Amino acid sequence: MVSGREDARAGQGAERDAGRGGQGRARTPAIELHDAQVRLGGRTIWSGVEVAAGHGELIAVLGPNGAGKSTLLQVLLGAVPLSRGTATVLGSPPGARDARIGFLPQRRVFDSGTRIRGIDIVRLGLDGSRWGMPVPGAARLSARARARAARVSELIEMVGAREYANRPIDECSGGEQQRLLIAQALAHRPELLLLDEPLDGLDLTNQAAVTALVKAIATERNVTVLLVAHDVNPLLPHLDRVIYLAGGRAAVGTPSEVITSPTLSALYGVDVEVLRTGSGRMVVVGAPEAPHAHGRRHPLADGAHGAGAGG
Ligand SMILES: Nc1ncnc2c1ncn2[C@@H]1O[C@H](COP(=O)(O)OP(=O)(O)OP(=O)(O)O)[C@@H](O)[C@H]1O
Ligand SMILES: [Mg+2]
Repeated sequence: MVSGREDARAGQGAERDAGRGGQGRARTPAIELHDAQVRLGGRTIWSGVEVAAGHGELIAVLGPNGAGKSTLLQVLLGAVPLSRGTATVLGSPPGARDARIGFLPQRRVFDSGTRIRGIDIVRLGLDGSRWGMPVPGAARLSARARARAARVSELIEMVGAREYANRPIDECSGGEQQRLLIAQALAHRPELLLLDEPLDGLDLTNQAAVTALVKAIATERNVTVLLVAHDVNPLLPHLDRVIYLAGGRAAVGTPSEVITSPTLSALYGVDVEVLRTGSGRMVVVGAPEAPHAHGRRHPLADGAHGAGAGG
């Protein structure tokens, strides 16, 4: 399961999803990485990564701090080049189709005193150059303004943010801010959604709610979603597959294929134990931190944590 050039398993989801997609989009995978390697600062972050993600798949990107999860999203955005291998995103080289990608970066903090309203955050996702028809003339401009307002309203409805969309963003809770930012990322009707730790800082109820929202977007709108997370458990009911990064390599497959003692032990290079609780939660015991992990969060010294944490 640990991906390598010989691992064909990563393609299975893509084939399945290409089969059920059929909404006028190319039947090629939404994302393809082949023998992909990234080097940063003279160090290999990961290598030999094979991923093929189908349209409408919800895929969690898991692994310890410093494993290269955010780097993977940066590669797909064309912001970080591969040092080896190939990457295709929505049928083109990374960077070429960014207008079709919704991106939620990691660590989004609104300082207190940020008086911009929630609705303005969503509106920011719609900049004229990438959305709607560039039409000159006052009458047509106002038609365009109406279309923008309708789209903003639709997005706010979609994420269930109607109640607080007119409040200043610094008065919205973390979960409310997260929904508004997801609405912003959806503004251009993306075919691919890259969400870097969208569940970070949310309570369990909001983790479940945001996950269900993202799953509905993936399924109903055929949007491929890569969601970086530290705990796979809130995602388990909704996930199609996981990309687990650790030890400079990746394992790709369903959670029950990848989050196993043998696969994670092979990935980390030390004995790692995966326990299943009675309620189906997965707990990884003994996973070391990544060699260069900074341990910003999840300081679980005994190495036991919800599966996927690792750091
Ligand atoms: N521009 C850069 N130059 C050198 N090293 C970098 C650069 N950007 C990231 N790195 C290193 O690459 C590694 C992977 O970073 P990345 O942010 O992808 O990790 P991550 O898995 O997202 O971690 P976290 O869970 O903490 O967010 C880290 O060790 C980081 O320090
Ligand atoms: Mg990160």
